[in-house]
Amino acid sequence: MDKMWAGRFSKSLDKTADDFNSSIRTDCRMYRQDIKGSIAHAEMLAARGIISESDCGEITAGLEGILRDIDAGKLEIDMRAEDIHMFIESELTARIGDAGRRLHTARSRNDQVALDIRMYLRDECESIVLLIKRLISAIVLQAEKNECAVMPGYTHLQRAQPITFAQQLLAYANMLVRDVGRIKDASRRMNLSPLGSCALAGTTYDTDRRQPAKALGFSGVTANSIDGVSDRDFCVELLCALSLVMTHLSRFSEEIILWSSWEFKFIELDDSFTTGSSIMPQKKNPDMAELVRGKTGRVYGDLMGTLTMLKGLPLAYNKDMQEDKDAIFDGIDTVKSCLEVFAPMIETMKTLPENMYRAAQGGFINATDLADYLVKKGVPFRTAYKTVGQIVAYCIENGAVLDDLPIEEYKRFDKLFEKDLYDEIKLENCVRKRASEGGTGFDSVKAQIKAAKEYLI
Ligand code: ARG
Repeated sequence: MDKMWAGRFSKSLDKTADDFNSSIRTDCRMYRQDIKGSIAHAEMLAARGIISESDCGEITAGLEGILRDIDAGKLEIDMRAEDIHMFIESELTARIGDAGRRLHTARSRNDQVALDIRMYLRDECESIVLLIKRLISAIVLQAEKNECAVMPGYTHLQRAQPITFAQQLLAYANMLVRDVGRIKDASRRMNLSPLGSCALAGTTYDTDRRQPAKALGFSGVTANSIDGVSDRDFCVELLCALSLVMTHLSRFSEEIILWSSWEFKFIELDDSFTTGSSIMPQKKNPDMAELVRGKTGRVYGDLMGTLTMLKGLPLAYNKDMQEDKDAIFDGIDTVKSCLEVFAPMIETMKTLPENMYRAAQGGFINATDLADYLVKKGVPFRTAYKTVGQIVAYCIENGAVLDDLPIEEYKRFDKLFEKDLYDEIKLENCVRKRASEGGTGFDSVKAQIKAAKEYLI
């Protein structure tokens, strides 16, 4: 294929090198952004008298035609082209001749590609936010259904204190709300137009950078032309935010996997989100959750790859930067596909509160409450803690639990124990009493659900 930059060269590019150099397989997905950016640029050139109104009219109509044809599947993007920018410009020139050759005045592919990526990512941020919100509402739905489902809360994966399943789920909702915040922050910061930075130094033409910026919905323009074409912080920032989304989904997945095992059986995933085994007829595997956990590494890889690609680069543009798109697109695609499967998986899962409750009955998870019982009667917490520790050891030795150890035996450890202790250590009461703001108390959980619903409106 003839190169637009062919003038200086006496030989054409080696076939392997040409293939190696091309980014069209990756950047073809930005055709819409590229065309919109070019239209805004042409309109500015005409407004400033740099090209004629009639050339601008031809360029705009030509570009709109190309956009329509690609959308309709009438124009196939040529995978032998160097990149999407070159493909569209040469297609335009093939369609309208000389006017097309004027489009690239006062512009470089360096500011063009920086513009396209920002526009593309901006839109993707919006769709990812919607997907995260969909997952948050699935979580809230399950939280509402399981407001009263008492289960053991864990630390060190050892049964610790009674909580509700809703409280555990809402922890994930909070992480995801922060993820939305981070993605919106990244989107806001990237929303400055680099167009007009040109190759690196700005331009001698009397351009107006603010006109296309405004037309394309940017909140302003980048302040330094070298930074404008060299900056890929916005890719890194978004990949950081996406990596955290994956961290959260991965932790959640790990719990889903545990909870659906026979050892826990707190939940059962819907058949439509599980798979069978090719040999073991009894198996029902949580493949979706495992894949999400597994794909987390990919997104971390995309982040590390981009950071490493950037770290040694002198200013301004270097071809290394072409690698940014493979990474950021992979990160976006991965996160979107994970969210798309995660939300309905959560929505359709069945919870098994009886099993949760049974697990909560073992493991002495009301021991803290028993210590607090003595504290309320004036015993210093450390002393109460030690006494209850001894009672737990005694129960373990004698195959008893705190709830059915006779009062006479309690009194041997401390005379302050009375029959009302049994009420104090009932699992439901242990949960109810944790009424501190954000705690697992039933009212607190209700308030959290209400707040989450308001957030989702
Ligand atoms: N395909 C290139 C990229 O994605 C476009 C910019 C090329 N600029 C250049 N001076 N070679 O980075």
